[in-house]
Amino acid sequence: MMEKLIVHGGAPLKGRVTISGSKNSSLPILAATLLTGDVCTIRRVPDLSDTNYMTQILAELGAEVERASGVVVVEARKIKHVAPYDLVRKMRASICVLGPLTGRLRKATVSLPGGCVIGDRPVDLHLKGLEALGAQITVDGGDIHVDARKHFKGTTLNLMGKHGSTVLGTDNVMMAAVLAKGTTIIEGAAAEPEVEDLANFLIKMGAKIEGAGSNRIIIEGVKELHGAEHTVIPDRIEAGTFLCVGAMLSDGLTIRRCAPEHLTAVTETLRKCGFPMEITKDTITIHGNPDAKGFDLTTLCYPGFPTDMQAQFCALACAIQDTSTITETIFPQRFMHVAEMKRMGANIDLQGATARIRGGEHMKGAPVMASDLRASAALVLAAMLAEGKTEINRLYHIDRGYEHLDDKLAGLGAQLERAKV
Ligand code: EPZ
Repeated sequence: MMEKLIVHGGAPLKGRVTISGSKNSSLPILAATLLTGDVCTIRRVPDLSDTNYMTQILAELGAEVERASGVVVVEARKIKHVAPYDLVRKMRASICVLGPLTGRLRKATVSLPGGCVIGDRPVDLHLKGLEALGAQITVDGGDIHVDARKHFKGTTLNLMGKHGSTVLGTDNVMMAAVLAKGTTIIEGAAAEPEVEDLANFLIKMGAKIEGAGSNRIIIEGVKELHGAEHTVIPDRIEAGTFLCVGAMLSDGLTIRRCAPEHLTAVTETLRKCGFPMEITKDTITIHGNPDAKGFDLTTLCYPGFPTDMQAQFCALACAIQDTSTITETIFPQRFMHVAEMKRMGANIDLQGATARIRGGEHMKGAPVMASDLRASAALVLAAMLAEGKTEINRLYHIDRGYEHLDDKLAGLGAQLERAKV
């Protein structure tokens, strides 16, 4: 059922919001449960369409899956090696079953992910990594076929690509290498907190991994893994999104159950703009500032400024009485939100992969179209800043990655409601 979000802008926000578990940690960790036939229990899995897709894929592959209020219990006793196109096409991140199937069954057939609006997203580095471990790989009829039955052995490989390291590529190679003979060294590995969280889960299952969270990961292969329990880390992108909400529209908004240490690039940028913050072990309280200064940021791999916060900072820049620039290096075409924000009166000049935003313009509500997860969150922020009514169509994009976003915002005083299209 198609839904849209109707936002009445201009409402001041305040209060406290609790951050959910991380989507980008939950997806590879759920896939990793395929590495053992024992029971695995994953806690704090957010209620999103993307995590639903992943549990459906696990069930399609033959695993027993139970889910209740943030807890997912998986028992992948007997599994198949073929992940069906019909499910994989719905979510690119399904590609992260490739590593576990290869590691455990020494063979896998997974459909090649299709196109993506945020830009070119090949999986060549994933395949290069598995081939380096000795897997034979063919791509045929839209499917990736992996055969690692003959030879599957640890080695040293490099996963650095032209746009930096690859997050799910590092996850896939790590999940395959934990059951390969001998030692694997991944140079140019992604250092994102979600990669480290996956490694911590694998270690609880009996894997031998060092260096996760850095760009060099060492994996000592083991014969088999066992069941384990794990609680996923807080969602740093959801937390960052609410930090922008607080800076743009509040005079005191507290974000609870987050991990400030995963957000330093974001909080440092906000601090430089002049937004006061109080940070504790698992909370951040942010205040607005009418005299805030503009910023110049470039998206980078972690611990640099996250590309998944780029669109939200575009909306923030519209609220600052100054000029800001944003250069996108990970997905250079990831600016679908700009045209929609300009429909609301934003003054944004896009040159190649750099957006120049003259903030403080009067924004007025208008019907707009969501195109992808983070662009749609940015449109909600811009709509709350704008005068009057905005209709954001294709709400399903938000439900892919934000748990009950509209309820959480309404709890802070936002004027918004869902409506059928
Ligand atoms: C993960 O995607 C996240 N998704 C993305 O978040 C995030 O934008 C991205 O990492 C970068 O931080 C999940 O974790 C589920 P990459 P991933 O491989 O792993 C190029 C969101 O909004 N590349 O790190 O698919 C690629 O084209 C989503 O939650 C290759 O060239 O991204 C890109 O330019 C959107 N060859 C760069 O590397 C490859 O084989 C980084 O992509 C793989 C990637």
